Amino acid sequence: MLRSRILSTGMYVPTKRVTNEDLSKIMDTSDEWIRQRTGIEQRFWVDGGEATSDLALKASELAIQRAGVEKSQIEMIILATLSPDHEFPGTACFLQKKLGIPGIPSLDVRQQCTGFIYSLSIADQFIRNGAYKNILVVGAEVHSKGLEMSDHGRDVTVLFGDGAGAVVLGAVDVKDPEKESHILSTHLHADGTFAEELWTPAPGTGNSEFRVGAKELEEGLHWPKMNGKTVFMHAVKRMPEALEEGLKANQLCVSDIDLFVFHQANLRINDMIAKQFEIPEHKVFNTIQKYANTTAATIPIGLDEAVRAGKLKKGMLVASAAFGSGFTWGSAIYRF
Ligand code: ACO
Repeated sequence: MLRSRILSTGMYVPTKRVTNEDLSKIMDTSDEWIRQRTGIEQRFWVDGGEATSDLALKASELAIQRAGVEKSQIEMIILATLSPDHEFPGTACFLQKKLGIPGIPSLDVRQQCTGFIYSLSIADQFIRNGAYKNILVVGAEVHSKGLEMSDHGRDVTVLFGDGAGAVVLGAVDVKDPEKESHILSTHLHADGTFAEELWTPAPGTGNSEFRVGAKELEEGLHWPKMNGKTVFMHAVKRMPEALEEGLKANQLCVSDIDLFVFHQANLRINDMIAKQFEIPEHKVFNTIQKYANTTAATIPIGLDEAVRAGKLKKGMLVASAAFGSGFTWGSAIYRF
């Protein structure tokens, strides 16, 4: 049967390391508060000119090289980001230009922290139906250029890092689904009722006169706003639901999964999920301590780090789940 397989992974984070201590010099926060509430110890931010597509390019080039395919064999680009290079066109088009592979479809996915799972799911459908053989799937963010560096913005600013992760998804003829690497299933959800619990209002046509004008800037509508407690409450409900849905769809139980690579919003969220499902610590791969929340990039970064750390090997059964702005949430079960 025709299925999709993760052929390779790649990641890139910028070189400027920003510790919690560094942030406490520019806003009223502390290493202790950030570590205790989130688990984050540091993050990497761009230092100057790099755009989201620049980070995406570096992660993509690695993934393509490791997949053993030529750039010209990539038949579609799907890029998830909430921090696009520009309002339009989509960042996938800027990435395509930098990769030098014109003509193939390039698609932006705007599903925030669930963006990678949505992208993987879209790519999986295109491969399953025989449309494409190799699809580049990327999650990339430059958050640091859109964060409010002040006491007022501290609740959001301390949470986010810049980074990119990529995978090449390839078509395979799977004969033994119990053993051969492939995407088993993906499960996607959203509830726009909560769209304004975590959002950046401007620029946007939802504003009164201009997408962004003096009024919007004065009111700080171009900075992200988050109702942290509500997001937390929903995350610890929806991520387990999505995970359970994925396991049930494949008649698997928690102990069948070799590695859990969850979205990285808060270490406390992932710890609560691990506790609820009685997942042993060594089976959950977290990177938030090092990279903070890189939104659409957390899962592909996690996969690449896990490979390089020797924790993720070919043939292992992996479960990913994510929750984020929208609200959006979802899961993916795959044999790596
Ligand atoms: N440093 C120091 N103090 C702070 C900071 C900070 N950076 N931020 C907030 N505080 C203060 C608050 O002002 C508050 O002070 P008060 O008690 O005097 O009013 C106190 O710390 C407690 O604030 P809470 O918001 O109650 O802290 P909480 O324990 O809820 O933790 C956090 C906040 C970490 C943001 C948590 O709510 C969380 O992780 N929420 C989920 C975030 C998330 O999952 N986002 C989704 C992904 S992002 C995406 O999709 C784009």
